[in-house]
Amino acid sequence: MQLCVIITLLGFVCSFVIYQILFETREIPSGWLERCAWRDLEPHVHLLDVAPIARDEFLRRQSILAAALDKAGVDAFIAEPSASSSYYANISTSFDLSERPFLMIIDKNVQFSYLVPKFEVGRISRLEMVYKDKKVIEWPEEKSPYEVLAKATGYKKIMLDEHARFMIASGLQAAGVEVIPTSQDIQSLRAVKTEEELKILRGINGFTLQLVRSLQKCIKIGMTQESIAFAASRLFGRAGVGNGFWVIVLFGDQAAYPHGGSSGKTLSRGEFVLIDIGSKLHDYGSDVTRTILPEGSELSKDLMDVWYTVQAAQSAAIQLMNVNETCSVVDAAARKIISDKGYGEFFTHRLGHGLGLEMHEHPYLNGANGEKLRTGEVVTNEPGIYVTTEQAKKLSLEVGFGVRLEDPILVSNQDGPGGIVMTGSTAKSPYEP
Ligand SMILES: *[C@@H]1O[C@H](CO)[C@@H](O)[C@H](O)[C@H]1NC(C)=O
Ligand SMILES: *[C@@H]1O[C@H](CO)[C@@H](O)[C@H](O)[C@H]1NC(C)=O
Repeated sequence: MQLCVIITLLGFVCSFVIYQILFETREIPSGWLERCAWRDLEPHVHLLDVAPIARDEFLRRQSILAAALDKAGVDAFIAEPSASSSYYANISTSFDLSERPFLMIIDKNVQFSYLVPKFEVGRISRLEMVYKDKKVIEWPEEKSPYEVLAKATGYKKIMLDEHARFMIASGLQAAGVEVIPTSQDIQSLRAVKTEEELKILRGINGFTLQLVRSLQKCIKIGMTQESIAFAASRLFGRAGVGNGFWVIVLFGDQAAYPHGGSSGKTLSRGEFVLIDIGSKLHDYGSDVTRTILPEGSELSKDLMDVWYTVQAAQSAAIQLMNVNETCSVVDAAARKIISDKGYGEFFTHRLGHGLGLEMHEHPYLNGANGEKLRTGEVVTNEPGIYVTTEQAKKLSLEVGFGVRLEDPILVSNQDGPGGIVMTGSTAKSPYEP
């Protein structure tokens, strides 16, 4: 009996020691981080319960496009598989482009057709495209696809999607079809979001922020950038939105380069963690950045001031994200706050970009863009300050850093109150992201 107790106790002691060696004194594995964060995140998964874009909405988009083409005196709009084909006909952006053109065509009479390699007809007809009725234009390998298209449709002048390749434009021109670029009016159809699109964007961006908050509660000193990135990918996967996932995780001076440094770094006390992260829901993207500190990790006053400067820059720009405000003016408002603190030269990129079916789309908030914001546009607001360790010495700081805060903002429909934060709320402090 006594022997049994001793053996059992020894067993406990041994497993405790092994546990300590494996999990406590060495790098904390991302499995632990994932489990810790999931406990906090799971109650927020309902944010993703949003309906996808309905058939009627696709058909409505096609009618609006047709009317705009008619007004512009153009026969048809042509796109390769891209955000535009996804927007108008549910042809996913993940369709692989090859040297053989597969083109979506919507004309001014709302006729939907597609040009397809003859031998691919079966595969492509299985895509869940949306149309009222369709014409399929097949091109056999021994003929020019563009001549086949020109002959089948009789189009004289077409508008080509901005992401279509040059070979499409030159092929159509060689077949006698005039090709013009996408007009601003048609570009802005996709930039201005409907209520259905806004629900999806709110869902995925709100969830993404909750995911970052859950990570912040569980991140510990000693973790690697990669283990946090891996846990994040698993968390999106668990919630069913792992497709389209991407992430940048940067510690301390690694974040001095806005899109990253080298791998293998572990988190030290007094270092920021910059997480820029997103995924997709029904093809619509999220894009959220937080610069955080794990609980108990403290920073110099200088670095805390940098964080609050970025926060002030972001909120100054949100105030201006109203209908008819000029894009460059919004960018300048954020830049002024940062320049006034002496960090102007370290805010190295534009303030933001449109967000929708593309991670980066129109409109762009930069100093050169004189476009006016429109009600219903969703645009990221992401000021940052990036100082390398070399530059930090000149500022009498010890080590480099990067701080960025990013939320997608809905341009409000009134003059004055400022844009609406699509994540739900902006960051309050490095401990309350
Ligand atoms: C759009 O395509 C997806 C698959 O990519 C499908 O699940 C969805 O039902 C389609 N939408 C419509 C309205 O057909
Ligand atoms: C925005 O500008 C347009 C065009 O100048 C104007 O028609 C519209 O009334 C303006 N909207 C607001 C809310 O000021």
